Amino acid sequence: MSIRIIGTGSYVPEKTVTNDDLSQMVDTNDEWITQRVGVKERRVSVSETTADLAVKAAQRAIEAAGISAEELDLIVTATVTGDSLCPSTAALVQAAIGAKCPAFDISSACSGFLFALDTAAAFIARGGIRHALVIGAERLSRVLDWTDRSTCVIFGDGAGAAVVAPGDNYLVSHLFTQGNDDVLSIPAGKGNSPFYEREEPVYKVVMKGQETFRFAVRRITDDIRLVSDMAGITPDQLKYIVPHQANSRIIDLAARKLGIPMERFVLNIERYGNTSSASVAISLDELVRSGALQPGDLIALCAFGGGLSSAACIIRW
Ligand code: COA
Repeated sequence: MSIRIIGTGSYVPEKTVTNDDLSQMVDTNDEWITQRVGVKERRVSVSETTADLAVKAAQRAIEAAGISAEELDLIVTATVTGDSLCPSTAALVQAAIGAKCPAFDISSACSGFLFALDTAAAFIARGGIRHALVIGAERLSRVLDWTDRSTCVIFGDGAGAAVVAPGDNYLVSHLFTQGNDDVLSIPAGKGNSPFYEREEPVYKVVMKGQETFRFAVRRITDDIRLVSDMAGITPDQLKYIVPHQANSRIIDLAARKLGIPMERFVLNIERYGNTSSASVAISLDELVRSGALQPGDLIALCAFGGGLSSAACIIRW
């Protein structure tokens, strides 16, 4: 199709919160979290905003791409934890890195980075864009209910980014939405209009764990099969799959259904937990920086989450 990735970057805040730390806050323990979710520790921002995390990941991606911020023609940031409803996180990144291009956010929860990547691909296909910066950045710690053991143990903060340019490495993509506010949501409250009874806005992740789990396994499996068909390959030709890091059991089950060995799935959930839209971007950056990718390798990126939404694409490295 229309793009190639020319640089990646990621950043996670310094503070590490272990499962043992969480067991001091809620009724949980390291064994349960490790076995049921696969997380050992996550990063939590104490003072950095979502935009701060995004800027650091963006600067690393720009440096890896070997360009300057002035050479960017578009910035698209995926986030559900922007610091304000306005300005967008992308606009704050634009100012902080010294870019001059249009910048906007999109919201598709944990699938957000892949929706943003596809948006950048569409802009590049339209023409006139030499470099686009695509970011997934989240400060989920701000919207978690830290008294709810079924959600607060899962998530973490972080950001990942990629610089893309015109090219032909982005072979196929698929975006999926199944509108639903019942399974996984972050309600925004009623607001403060004087024309009805007010209530404090309380932003917090509300999740039906088992329904989300089933949706996730089905989407990874269906989406990987679908994009493989679209690319005219079989899933076992994929050298690596970079999945959204939500639960290692979800990935394990999907791997078995697809008949792909677990070693080909890039995993870092143990260290960061679920960083929503940042998750695939961070994982891709770590894969790239590990040196494991060779030119010509076929890789798939896939994600799922609130919306409900899911997305997958195949890239020839
Ligand atoms: N520590 C200890 N026990 C916990 C716990 C925790 N952090 N969270 C829940 N439990 C308990 C429950 O209260 C329940 O206890 P009970 O049997 O006495 O009622 C028991 O563990 C089992 O709960 P259940 O919800 O059935 O567990 P599960 O195996 O479905 O695991 C999730 C829960 C949330 C880990 C799992 O459903 C999941 O990962 N779902 C997908 C979530 C996801 O990926 N979200 C992001 C999508 S982008």
